[in-house]
Amino acid sequence: MSQGQKFYITTPIYYVNARPHIGHAYTTLACDAIARQKRMMGVDTYFLTGTDEHGQKIERSANAAGKSPKEFTDEVSNEFRALWDKMGIKYDGFIRTTDEHHQRGVQEMFRKIRDNGFIYKAKYTGQYCVSDELYVNEGGPGSPCPICGNPTETVSEENYFFKLSAFQDKLLKLFEEQPELIRPETRRNEVISFVRSGLRDLSISRASFKWGIPVPDDPSHVIYVWMDALSNYCTAVGYGSPSKRDQQMFAKYWPADVHMIGKEIVRFHCVYWPAFLMAAELELPKSIVAHGWLLFEESKMSKTRGNIVRAETIIDVLGNDALRYFLLREVVFGQDGTFSFDSLAQRYDSDLANGLGNLTSRTLTMIQRYFHGKIPYPSPTAARTAAEDGIAQLSAVVIRNYNQLFGDYQFSRALETAWSLVAAVNKYIVDQEPWAVAEKGDEGSLARLATILYTSAEALRIVTALVHPVIPESSAKIWEQLGLKKIEQVNPQTLKWGELKLGTKLGKVEAVFPRAEKNAVERMQQMEQDRINQAGAATATATAPEPAGVGAVAGQPATQAAAAPNATAAAAQSATNGLISIDDFSKVELRVGQVKTAEKVKGADKLLRLEVDIGTEVRQIVAGIALAYAPESLVGRKVVIVANLAPRKLRGIESNGMIVAASFGEQGTPVLAGFLEDVPVGARLK
Ligand code: ME8
Ligand code: MG
Repeated sequence: MSQGQKFYITTPIYYVNARPHIGHAYTTLACDAIARQKRMMGVDTYFLTGTDEHGQKIERSANAAGKSPKEFTDEVSNEFRALWDKMGIKYDGFIRTTDEHHQRGVQEMFRKIRDNGFIYKAKYTGQYCVSDELYVNEGGPGSPCPICGNPTETVSEENYFFKLSAFQDKLLKLFEEQPELIRPETRRNEVISFVRSGLRDLSISRASFKWGIPVPDDPSHVIYVWMDALSNYCTAVGYGSPSKRDQQMFAKYWPADVHMIGKEIVRFHCVYWPAFLMAAELELPKSIVAHGWLLFEESKMSKTRGNIVRAETIIDVLGNDALRYFLLREVVFGQDGTFSFDSLAQRYDSDLANGLGNLTSRTLTMIQRYFHGKIPYPSPTAARTAAEDGIAQLSAVVIRNYNQLFGDYQFSRALETAWSLVAAVNKYIVDQEPWAVAEKGDEGSLARLATILYTSAEALRIVTALVHPVIPESSAKIWEQLGLKKIEQVNPQTLKWGELKLGTKLGKVEAVFPRAEKNAVERMQQMEQDRINQAGAATATATAPEPAGVGAVAGQPATQAAAAPNATAAAAQSATNGLISIDDFSKVELRVGQVKTAEKVKGADKLLRLEVDIGTEVRQIVAGIALAYAPESLVGRKVVIVANLAPRKLRGIESNGMIVAASFGEQGTPVLAGFLEDVPVGARLK
């Protein structure tokens, strides 16, 4: 069909400092859906994903877990791969930055850029965010990272620098000439104003730790983890390889057609990456598409915050397609979207079980019952009404709009369009009452019945083919039940009304989306709770190094108590395994506070809203201690506060700090830290 065409799409390569969650699954399945659609169109498609395994953050996480970096990264990388396999993600390549061919390719790119005169050595003193592996130009010691808000660390080293400043004008020109490069528009505008505000040269090596790819000819330095990571998009398809086959592969697939990313890594992909590529005289990607964040409990789902939901939980209860459909339908691509188990279950019931599932089962069951399981012939004349024409016309519109919206990454609107056809046909069936028509039994009625069921089955065929990339498993089942073959080879762009053949023999008819169990939501929530309780150690090791062990020190109430009582004990345990320096500890600002007011948070059993005087100001803090403390018993009490924690929202209320508590037992019962002697409000603990 589209011979000679190729399509190369990538996900970010995920950090292995913690286990995968549905935030990662979201990007990966969006790419998977796009790749599947391209393959259906006959395009030679390469879909790449993988893991980002070097850098200080990973080294620290491995330390905290008491493992060697290699052992640690092997383990977590395998978990990512296992999840994608479980989810049925059809990736063509899975790259690890610890792969030998990748390391060779990165060194090759470094060399090339250096030979082209864009690398020099100089002293760097400034702030660095380990969590985002980002050099921060503004601010002094401890100033917050512009991306995650965590305190930055001061780095002072002699480093290799990349002449990013030399690319300011070239980049601006590029954004001008290739307006489709950065999508959506809002991100493009942000990037343009960032570049306009001036680019400073970028430090691209580190000498103070070892876990990375050595700088060619100077192994005392490792290459900056973002240069290492971004290069994966080239090395995965053969860049830097001496083999002829790899070189041909690179020539064929590079440049990438789409780099799909989350919005927090736009700067790396839209500024650094094109500049590196220009400096290495390589072609630039055709587009960089940034989506928004999945939020949970009102903040970005992230391993650092610990407010994650695992894909496995949803898959085990509702199936792969439920997760895929929900994320692509519910979240407006490009914008942030809130995840909740309730809306997941609602969508499942209304759109999948009652919508598409019901359309499938009623249509196919009636064809079985009234036409011996063979697609009946629609009447060309007398038995045909405007209702059938309506469905045929709507189908044509849906085919056109769906393809256009999907191609434009507007998954949610594309699916909405497809489901408008599902709803129209379900309504059509109810209006036409085929079961009543069947009862009449005369010849005219039989022709009418054939027309109604053909129309329903044909619309079902069209919807099913369209949504195959989004819900591959269940659409393939519906396809087979319709008696058709090889759904993955149907070109969605050339779908046409009326191609369902008379006499096609149905396959075995079975429910595709069984109604969700009544307690599906509670079950998923319970599974997540159990997971947090059990796997606390593993999750916590990963989170410990980022906000300098805050999770461990602070006991948890404000951020974790409500969701994860027992994770804390495990976090404390692993942080001591990992040993932190006094400097790390002193980043945590612990102060004596006095509770001024305390009240329950409506609708949240475990949460209290407190106002706490910390000497210089009165802070609002939300703490997960309501099961252990009556609000009135706290007023006047002196407590220990983590005072320099980035604010976060719990149940819509901003919490500006955390109360330190011990936690014990199965329930993770919190016991507030306090003092035997009197101590003034605002005093620092150190
Ligand atoms: O940034 N909502 O890796 P990472 C939506 N290694 N998407 C989310 C998400 C959420 N809550 N959480 C994660 C890195 N993602 C680097 C990338 S690329 C050369 C190097 C997805 O493990 C989203 O795609 O922090 C985001 O950009 C990516 O995971 C970040 O994964
Ligand atoms: Mg991240």
